[in-house]
Amino acid sequence: MKKKYFFANWKMYLNNSESIALASWMADNSGNFDKNFELAVFPTNLSLVAVKNRIKESNIKIGAQNSYWLNEGGYTGEVSVGMLKEVGCSYVLVGHSERRHLFNETNEQVGKKISSAVLNNMIPVLCVGETKQQREDNYQEIIVKKQIEEALSNIDLNEISLFIAYEPVWAVGSGKNCSLFEAEQMHDIIGKIVGQFSSNYKILYGGSVRPENINEYIQSDIIDGVLVGGASTKKDALANMLGMSNSI
Ligand code: PGA
Repeated sequence: MKKKYFFANWKMYLNNSESIALASWMADNSGNFDKNFELAVFPTNLSLVAVKNRIKESNIKIGAQNSYWLNEGGYTGEVSVGMLKEVGCSYVLVGHSERRHLFNETNEQVGKKISSAVLNNMIPVLCVGETKQQREDNYQEIIVKKQIEEALSNIDLNEISLFIAYEPVWAVGSGKNCSLFEAEQMHDIIGKIVGQFSSNYKILYGGSVRPENINEYIQSDIIDGVLVGGASTKKDALANMLGMSNSI
């Protein structure tokens, strides 16, 4: 079976000590996880340094949940890709639906963030997906195409690997996951769109991935892995999803 990516987006769920504790447990137990997984955790910026320190002897990578597109300057509250790189981040999430919808992030801003990631040799994880209304109106393909094209046009991807996370907004944090059929259909469409810009990409599914449904996605030939939010913040759910032998 080919490698599958398991990216754990801890959002703003875990504080510093909780992030360190969970990351330490993952590092200590990573030898018991399913060997097919490539793992990365995305704690808050507050915990990047300490978490990186705990996982550095393991194969687990670390990424940030967001970044700013400029390198440095008077941008209170922001963190640049260069700064994330310096503390050992391998990935950065860009355009997560919570950023787009709660913080009004636009496709143009998402494009600038991708560009900054590429310039700094950081692997971007571009998140795309339609709202419930857009799905009901059957606009999902148009929306996702626009999100990808506006984010990637004018950028020389320079052979850097790129991740796309298909995360329908109605599935994120809702407990209502996308059916395998719908997810595969969208992955197929996304592959064709991204293929115009890059030949070096992976497509993940995200949105209410849980122990009960992860295998459907992981076993699919056209889904390269999963981006897991809420369920990835709980040790027992993680152990289960990562196929840990002797589950706790
Ligand atoms: P969820 O979040 O698994 O809690 O639905 C996924 C994500 O936002 O990446």
